[in-house]
Amino acid sequence: MLISPSILSADFANLEEELDAIASADWAHVDVMDGHFVPNLTIGLPVVERLVEVSPVPIDTHLMIEDPDRWAPMYAELGAKSVTFHIEAAADPKTLARNLRALGARASMALKPKTPWEPYAELLPELDMVLVMTVEPGFGGQAFMADQMPKVRAVRESVRRYGGEVWIQVDGGVSASTIEQCAEAGADVFVAGSAVYNADDAAGNVDKLRALVAAHQH
Ligand code: DX5
Ligand code: ZN
Repeated sequence: MLISPSILSADFANLEEELDAIASADWAHVDVMDGHFVPNLTIGLPVVERLVEVSPVPIDTHLMIEDPDRWAPMYAELGAKSVTFHIEAAADPKTLARNLRALGARASMALKPKTPWEPYAELLPELDMVLVMTVEPGFGGQAFMADQMPKVRAVRESVRRYGGEVWIQVDGGVSASTIEQCAEAGADVFVAGSAVYNADDAAGNVDKLRALVAAHQH
């Protein structure tokens, strides 16, 4: 089980401090948005490069961008531990995933809420993680989409049949009131932005989310 707080809800003028505040998490989730694949615009390569250098935990990049075939490998090169591209934007996902792994990153593929899983199940051997979005990508603080839980279950079932180790990440609206249903559906990597950073005591919020999942697993 991994907890990956999203710095999208952090103070962008103090990112180093905000990363230090979640040093008890497993990863730090960094949302890269290009204003094209999603309407919002955040940060890109030069900022992520510095985040990798100063972060106390590995960086988990979520690329909501067009042409990930070209750009995603550069995030692997600068040292992101995990690089997630969106299947809706990828021209050649198999080659892209292989490139990410060759550069030393974990290769991960994301699905928007309206994107089905089944057509892509055959990509599992190329992947280290599948991200099932539980909101429409683009903004923090949106309402959790419980109707994505059947997709999490379907991915979990495919992973079980495949037999390899592929993690399942959920992202969007994950909080103390929704994280247990994600765990119960088969997710094991949990992104939370507003639930960690929009309340005081980010570290305490990480511990609280972790405890909810741990209690669920026993
Ligand atoms: C949304 C981003 C998420 C976002 C989640 O497009 O991918 O990572 O930060 O924020 P919350 O947890 O507030 O829904
Ligand atoms: Zn994200």
